Amino acid sequence: MEFNNLLLEISDSIAVITLNRPKQLNALNKETIAELHQALEGLKNDAEVRVVILTGSGEKSFVAGADIKEFANFSVTEGTELAALGQTSLFDYIENYSKPVIAAVNGFALGGGLELAMSAHIRIASNNAKLGLPEVTLGLIPGYGGTQRLAQLVGKGRALEMILSAQMIKADRAYEMGLVNHLTELDELLPTAKGLAAKIAQNSPNAIHSAIKCVNAGYTDGMNGFKVEIEEFGKCFGTEDFTEGTTAFLEKRKPQF
Ligand code: CAA
Repeated sequence: MEFNNLLLEISDSIAVITLNRPKQLNALNKETIAELHQALEGLKNDAEVRVVILTGSGEKSFVAGADIKEFANFSVTEGTELAALGQTSLFDYIENYSKPVIAAVNGFALGGGLELAMSAHIRIASNNAKLGLPEVTLGLIPGYGGTQRLAQLVGKGRALEMILSAQMIKADRAYEMGLVNHLTELDELLPTAKGLAAKIAQNSPNAIHSAIKCVNAGYTDGMNGFKVEIEEFGKCFGTEDFTEGTTAFLEKRKPQF
């Protein structure tokens, strides 16, 4: 797959997608959103890939938000379409992706950049990372799911403070708040993300997909997470992964999924 704004590297069951618009601090324009969707769609059916890592190129920025230059003259209709298309084609898509997505946050994660990290299943940040939703300084609000996912991750009060004040928080504060799972030195960020990805990659892909569905169901209107868990648990019994996992345990060997 060839992209204008992304780099894609696959090794040892792990795909690393690097957002690559360093001059614009990797800001998300429409083309990048479309390319990210396309890249993930391609990786979905690639049995060699078990985990996806998202990161930004350069040492300064993960993603500095939606591309302000691109939407500066948008009308109400265009703005609504931008958010709707972005949310469904990328942010909700990542949240519901069948393989785990880890955001390796290597600098500014602002606006759509933090929203991208929050749509991933796991976040790891380098010590230099700065995170925030500064949209209200532009006369906007977060439009890629930020008002919802930030409140889910850190609680309503902290989310409202970050959104209304537009203030960036440093990586250590994001860690304290549970917004990121781990903190690392910048040069340890990708190795740490890959180490976690390698552990995940040893586990049953089928069970992992089921677990993602169940956790997400608990945060989805009209869905009962407990009910979905019962259904998904039952379905696991019909899979080759279940046969392999339980057989390997009984034979005192490691499972090969
Ligand atoms: N969109 C487009 N271009 C951006 C950008 C963005 N979100 N963020 C940075 N850039 C560009 C700058 O315009 C600049 O380009 P030029 O050299 O051509 O002028 C280049 O990246 C470098 O940026 P700075 O010179 O500003 O770098 P800095 O170190 O002084 O500041 C920064 C870094 C604090 C991240 C600052 O660039 C900034 O505040 N960026 C905007 C952050 C923001 O408001 N994000 C939210 C966007 S709205 C959104 O995301 C909506 C949504 O929810 C859907």
